[in-house]
Amino acid sequence: MIRDVIAAFAAQLDGYESLDPASSRIVHLGGVWEDRAVVVVFRPRQPQPSFVIKLDRTAIGRRLLDQESTALRWLRETRRAPGPVPAPVALFEHRDALVLAQTAVPGRPFMAQLRRRLRITARAIARDHALLLGWLEEFRDGAVAPADRGQWLSDAEALTLAEQILPTGKLWARRALDDLRRGVDAAGRLPSVVAPSHGDLGPSNVLRHRDGVGVIDWERSHPAAPALNDVLILLHHYARAVSRRRDGTLDTRDVMARAFLRDDALSLETRRRWREQLVALGMPAEADAVALTATILRFAAGQTPFAQRSAGRMWRQIARRFLRAWSATGPVDGALARP
Ligand SMILES: Nc1ncnc2c1ncn2[C@@H]1O[C@H](COP(=O)(O)OP(=O)(O)O)[C@@H](O)[C@H]1O
Ligand SMILES: [Mg+2]
Repeated sequence: MIRDVIAAFAAQLDGYESLDPASSRIVHLGGVWEDRAVVVVFRPRQPQPSFVIKLDRTAIGRRLLDQESTALRWLRETRRAPGPVPAPVALFEHRDALVLAQTAVPGRPFMAQLRRRLRITARAIARDHALLLGWLEEFRDGAVAPADRGQWLSDAEALTLAEQILPTGKLWARRALDDLRRGVDAAGRLPSVVAPSHGDLGPSNVLRHRDGVGVIDWERSHPAAPALNDVLILLHHYARAVSRRRDGTLDTRDVMARAFLRDDALSLETRRRWREQLVALGMPAEADAVALTATILRFAAGQTPFAQRSAGRMWRQIARRFLRAWSATGPVDGALARP
C-alpha cells in the first residue's frame, strides 16, 4: 500500500529530481496503524531523507492534513518561520486516503536528545526554554494583535464552559470559577491577543541542527490564534518530555501540576517563563493566574485550533487535576498569585 502511494506521488513529481520508488528506502515513523501512516523516503544512496509522506483515512486526520498543507503553503509565501520548515510538495487522494507529501527538514529530533540526558538541571531547562520560546517569539514577531472577540470564545462563553467542565459543589472548582469571574471583571475581558500559531509546538516537533532548529508537524497551525496557546502547549509538552524520563509511570494528567506548582527547578522556570511571555505579549504580569486558568479551560472546552481525537478529554482531565491541586496548595513561592 505504501509503495503504491509512493509510486503515485513519484508520478506527479515535477520540479524535483525524479524519484525511483522501487529503489528508495522507506522508513515508517510514529504509529503506523490502519488509518494513518507517516513515512520518510530516502533516495538511493542519500544519507538525508528527501520527503516525508503523511496519509490518513479518517475524517479528522484528513482535515488535519488539509490544514497542514494550507499552513505549509502559507509558510512558504510569508517566510515567517525562522529556520527550516517543510515545503509542501503534493496533496492528493489515493484510494480512500488523503496524502500530504512534504520536503524533509534536516536535524535530529529534540525529543530524542532530551531522552538521552542523564540529568535535567535548572540550567538545561532554562536553555531549552530559551531555545523553544526564542523560536516562537521570532515566529510571531510583529504579528501580535488584540483578539478579534467574535472569532474566539467570549468571556461569558468561557465561564459557561468552565461551569460545565468543573464539578459543582467542590470548593476548588468554585475557586477556579471565582478566579475566572474576577479576572474577567477586572480586565473587562480575558487577557488575550492573537498571533500566528503552530498549535502543537513541543520537543517532538522540533528538529535540531547545527544552525538552530527546524519545526515540523503544522497540522494544528492557525494564522491567528490566542498567542498564549502556543506558550502553554510548549511549556506543557516540555514538562511532559522531561518528566517522563525520570519517572516512567508519571500520570500525564499531572504534568501541569508538576510544571507550575512544585518547588523545583522545572516549576520555577515554567512560572517565570509564563509571566515573561505574558509581558512580552503586552499583558500585565499580574494577569498570570487568570490567563493560565482561562487558557487551560479553553483547551478543556476544545477551544483550540487543534482537533485531536482525544485532546478535549485529555485537557478536561488536566484542567480538573491541575485546578484542584492549585486550590489545595497554591504555587509555592507566590508567583502566579490568585487574582
Ligand atoms: N518534514 C519532516 N522532516 C523530517 N522529519 C519529519 C517531517 N515530518 C515528520 N517527520 C518525522 O515524522 C514524525 C511524525 O510526524 P509528525 O508530522 O510530527 O506527525 P504526528 O502528527 O504523527 O506527530 C516526526 O516526529 C518526525 O520524526
Ligand atoms: Mg508530531
